[in-house]
Amino acid sequence: MHNVPRGLHLAAGPLLAVALLAAACGGGGSATPSGTTTPFGTTTPSGTTGVNQRLAERGAELFTQFGCNTCHSTTGQRIVGPPLNGLYGKQVQLENGQTVTADEAYLRESILDPDAKIVAGYPKGVMASTIADRMNQIRQDDNVDALVEYIKSLR
Ligand code: HEC
Repeated sequence: MHNVPRGLHLAAGPLLAVALLAAACGGGGSATPSGTTTPFGTTTPSGTTGVNQRLAERGAELFTQFGCNTCHSTTGQRIVGPPLNGLYGKQVQLENGQTVTADEAYLRESILDPDAKIVAGYPKGVMASTIADRMNQIRQDDNVDALVEYIKSLR
């Protein structure tokens, strides 16, 4: 009897995919150049793929509401701040000579504490002082989630 129970076989695929996904997420992906397509393909069940579309759409609204768009393009142009398209997953050169990966934690910190890490070639203090008056609203946790999700969606 070497009949492997069918259910086991069927379950192994998705489980493996989830495990790989978790590993990929946790790693921070420092070796990955800026993504072009969604990194996890189409085989994963909805909800675990790269971007939560609904949250990203809310983020897009907040991006305008909070005036982020006055300093950040999403098309690659430099305005006051760096363009945000293609940022997620990319290596960012900092003013202090270090390089960081623009993962979720970095995006979150860049919004909540803009002067914690300064992007090379850009002015310090400008973002922080400009958004200081809306910081209370921005800080509400799922606003930041939405903004981060929106930035992640910008390819
Ligand atoms: C007054 C202009 C201004 C406004 C408004 C502004 N930013 Fe910025 N932002 C900057 C500048 C300048 C930098 C680069 C210097 C630094 O790292 O702080 C920056 C950096 C960033 C970074 C890091 C970018 C990178 O390439 O690593 C993110 C993410 C970001 N801003 C998101 C936002 C979001 C979201 C908002 C709205 C809540 C916002 N910014 C509002 C000017 C602004």
